[in-house]
Amino acid sequence: MTHATREVPVVAIVVAAGSGSRLGGDVPKALREVGGVPLVARSVTQLAAGGVDAAVVVVADGTQGAFEAALADAPIPCGIVPGGAERQHSVANGISLITLHGSLEDAEVVLVHDAARAFVPAEVVARVIDAVRQGADAVVPVVPVVDTIRELVDEASVVIDRSALRAVQTPQGFKRAVLAEAHDALAESGQVVTDDAAAAEYLGHEVTLVEGSREAFKVTEPFDLVIAETLVARGKLS
Ligand code: C5P
Repeated sequence: MTHATREVPVVAIVVAAGSGSRLGGDVPKALREVGGVPLVARSVTQLAAGGVDAAVVVVADGTQGAFEAALADAPIPCGIVPGGAERQHSVANGISLITLHGSLEDAEVVLVHDAARAFVPAEVVARVIDAVRQGADAVVPVVPVVDTIRELVDEASVVIDRSALRAVQTPQGFKRAVLAEAHDALAESGQVVTDDAAAAEYLGHEVTLVEGSREAFKVTEPFDLVIAETLVARGKLS
């Protein structure tokens, strides 16, 4: 059973408004297809399988029609909203749509997901939702770091103890009020963060870690698309 227990509606903000410049190509990264299916559609399908009831997809200006087409067969209702200059502005726009949208108003659990993590297993999504329902303010899926990491210090470098490091994935899960207040605080302070858990932490909330998955990798560079195509063709990724 991959679905989280159904209690209150769960909404996911799916951010897809980045330029995707590291991947190249002439369409936004989230519209690139793997096995004939756009990454954004794969992300929404995986979120729905894990227990998400509706999605707000945040997209770059001028691409709304293309995203509507890509999501025409989505298994859950998807609203589309324009993004902002930085990822956190895109998330803030997504939060505004939840607030404005009558049918989403009673959502108490909000997930934020990078559209590019299109192969996230439903089990990871359900784990994040369950942790928020059990009382966590902010939840992130993590995986151990497999590479040895060196930190650049002045002209030299030092090895970091990788056993104490975790790589952070999405979807990240929040009590809705925590996410909304965190983004309000960021907007007021002008602080820039790279993920939403850091935004919640900025307000003093504890971040809970749950087990992520290598399959939730972020399609970032052309190499990642080749890996994804190959694994999907072999039936090793859904
Ligand atoms: O650049 P990075 O890979 O960290 O972006 C993570 C996610 O945030 C991507 O899915 C990207 O589309 C999204 N993003 C966004 N708005 C921005 C920048 C990034 O929605 N201004």
